[in-house]
Amino acid sequence: MLTFKRALVAAAFFLAVFYLTTRSHTTPGSALLQDAATAAAASTGAVAAGSASQAAGSVGGASSSSSGSAAQQQGVKGQLGDVGGQKTLHVPDLSKMTLYDKLAYQYPYDVDKKFPAYIWQTWKYTPANGEFTFREQEATWTEQHPGFIHEVITDAVALKLLRLLYAAVPEVLEAYDALPLPVLKADFFRYLILLARGGIYSDIDTYAIRSALEWIPDSVPREAIGLVIGIEADPDRPDWHDWYSRRIQFCQWTIQSKPGHPILRQIVTHITNETLRMKRAGQLTGFHDKNVVEFTGPAVWTDIVFGYFNDDRFFDMADSTGLIDWRNFTGMDSPKRVGDVIVLPITSFSPGVEQMGAKDYDDPMAFVKHDFEGTWKPESERHIGETQE
Ligand SMILES: *[C@@H]1O[C@H](CO)[C@@H](O)[C@H](O)[C@H]1NC(C)=O
Ligand SMILES: *[C@@H]1O[C@H](CO)[C@@H](O)[C@H](O)[C@H]1NC(C)=O
Repeated sequence: MLTFKRALVAAAFFLAVFYLTTRSHTTPGSALLQDAATAAAASTGAVAAGSASQAAGSVGGASSSSSGSAAQQQGVKGQLGDVGGQKTLHVPDLSKMTLYDKLAYQYPYDVDKKFPAYIWQTWKYTPANGEFTFREQEATWTEQHPGFIHEVITDAVALKLLRLLYAAVPEVLEAYDALPLPVLKADFFRYLILLARGGIYSDIDTYAIRSALEWIPDSVPREAIGLVIGIEADPDRPDWHDWYSRRIQFCQWTIQSKPGHPILRQIVTHITNETLRMKRAGQLTGFHDKNVVEFTGPAVWTDIVFGYFNDDRFFDMADSTGLIDWRNFTGMDSPKRVGDVIVLPITSFSPGVEQMGAKDYDDPMAFVKHDFEGTWKPESERHIGETQE
C-alpha cells in the first residue's frame, strides 16, 4: 500500500525522470543528467533502484554502480525503518544540520570504493560544436582512459546538473548563482562535481600525458587513497610572494578524487559560506579578478588542503611531530602520501615549466601538461587568460 508520503516521493521522482527524458533529445550531456536523476530522487527520499541508468564505471574493473548516487541510495535505504511490517521513511531533518553535515549526509565518503571512471571538463562549447578549439587536448584524455565516461560540460548543462545534484542543499545553488564571474563558477563547479560524483576534473586546456591509472604509486593501495593532487608552485626565492600567494601552492586544474572527500566538503562549505556572506553584505557586485585566487582558486584550495592535514578530526595529532606546512612539500621529486591524500611532485601536473625543480614532459612522473600563458606572470593575469568569457 502506498502511503501519502511515498506517493509524493514517487511523484517527485517520476516528474524528475519525465523532465530529463523530455530534455534528453536536445541537451548535450543528457546521459549524465539521467544519472543525476537518481541523485535527485534519492535526495527527496525515493529509493530509485533500477530506475535510472547508472552511468558510472570504476577504475580497474567492475564497471557499474560505483557512483556517489549508489552510495547515496544505500544511505537512504539504511534510513528505512520497518514498522509493523510496513516500511516507512525516516529522512533526517536537513534544515537542522550545518551545511558541512548536510553535504556529508548527501555525499558520504567511502575510501574503500574505487575511483569513479569519470573525466569532467568544462567549456563554453562541447566538442561537437565547430567553435570548440581544444580537440587535441580533449582527445588525449579519451585516448589515455578507455572505458571512462568523459564529459565536456557547458555552462547551461552545468547549471542543470548542479540543480539535480544539490537539490537538497539549496544554499549551494544560491551561492553558485550568486558568483559574479564565470571563472568563479568554473572553479566552484570542479569542487561540486567531484564532491558529488568523484573522478577526474581537468581544465580543458590540459593534455593527459599518462593515464590516471598510473598516478598513484604501485606501492600505495588504491583503497587507502581518496584524493590525488599536484603542486602548482614551489617558488624557492625571496620574492616568491610577488608571483604566488602561497609558498607551496597546490594546483586545482587537475584533481582526482573519490566522491564525498572531506577536503571537497570543506571547500564547498567555505565557498558557499563566503559567497552568501558577501552577497548579503552587497560585496559581490564590485568583485575584482585579482581576488579569484583567494576566493575560489589555488590559494583557498591550498589553505583547505593544509587545514585538513592538520585537522584532528581526521588525523591523530597525538602522534604528530609538528604542523604540516609548505616545508613538508618543498623540493619533493616523488609522490608523498599524507593520510588518504597523495601529493604529486611539481613535475606531475606542471612539467616543462623549466623552474621550481619541474622536469620535462618526457619525465616518467609527468602526467598532464597544462597550457597557461607564461608561468611567471602574476596569478591574477594568468587567471584572466583562463577565464571562460
Ligand atoms: C560561516 O561564516 C560565518 C561568518 O559569516 C562564520 O561564523 C562561520 O563559522 C562560517 N562557517 C563555516 C562552516 O565556515
Ligand atoms: C612535516 O615537517 C615537520 C618539520 O617541518 C616535521 O616535524 C613533521 O614530522 C613533518 N610531517 C610529515 C607528515 O611529513
